[in-house]
Amino acid sequence: MTTYPELNFLTPERHKDWLAVVGEPASEEEINAANQIRQVFVRNENPHPYMVDLLRAFRVLRSAKTYIEVGTRDKGNVAYVSELMDPYATIVDIDLNQDPSTEALLRKKIAESQTYIAIEGNSISDHVIHQVSQRVPLGSVDAVFLDSNHMYFHFLNEIDRYLPFVRAGGWVIAHDVLWEGTSEQKGKAYACELVDRHWPVYLVNGNRPITRFMRHQKNEAVWGSIGIFQKPNNNNLGEI
Ligand SMILES: C[S@@+](CC[C@H](N)C(=O)[O-])C[C@H]1O[C@@H](n2cnc3c(N)ncnc32)[C@H](O)[C@@H]1O
Repeated sequence: MTTYPELNFLTPERHKDWLAVVGEPASEEEINAANQIRQVFVRNENPHPYMVDLLRAFRVLRSAKTYIEVGTRDKGNVAYVSELMDPYATIVDIDLNQDPSTEALLRKKIAESQTYIAIEGNSISDHVIHQVSQRVPLGSVDAVFLDSNHMYFHFLNEIDRYLPFVRAGGWVIAHDVLWEGTSEQKGKAYACELVDRHWPVYLVNGNRPITRFMRHQKNEAVWGSIGIFQKPNNNNLGEI
């Protein structure tokens, strides 16, 4: 039997408070509440989303004021996060294709006092970044959730383009971080290893203990799992 390593020795003291919040396992009650919100958005062609690691990571957004989700598809996750956030929060939704009926459904679910902004286009294009910058000041966002194209360079480009919007002490959260790519192109897992050289990236995998990012133990495609890292207090690629 292989034991899942906790790797506590790799967790710097300064991250322990927020990691304790994320580290708490998801309860049945939390899972049911999240599923109930998402259920409304589930479409036939998509599987019911697995919420355990998502909801653990998104606890950092309780009472948060500004959030960007990059790649929103059925928008059920945006609805879930909006309920955690401040009643006057600003939420930015970016997707290659914005479906008017899904958007209308989401607008009905989001509190009227919250500001919801939908932007259509390629997340790393100048066009999209320009629109984000028109609505959200640099250094103001509590968290950005990267869940669009999972390829290595795309993901690194997204970090490059969205990190300037995140406030010091805010978070970058990414989905499907154990995915290693195809026979032709590497995936997010390798990018997370690169980022972890600069800033500690933590892995939220189901209800397991949080660890520093590490790749999957087996040679098989893995979907799901969250990578999360905190933006340092200084804006550069320096020490935290
Ligand atoms: C995995 S789904 C997002 C799921 C959603 N975040 C959730 O938790 O339910 C990926 C989405 O990313 C969008 N997408 C893919 N490539 C993109 C790109 N280059 N720019 C913007 N959105 C993209 C797709 O259209 C799709 O809706």
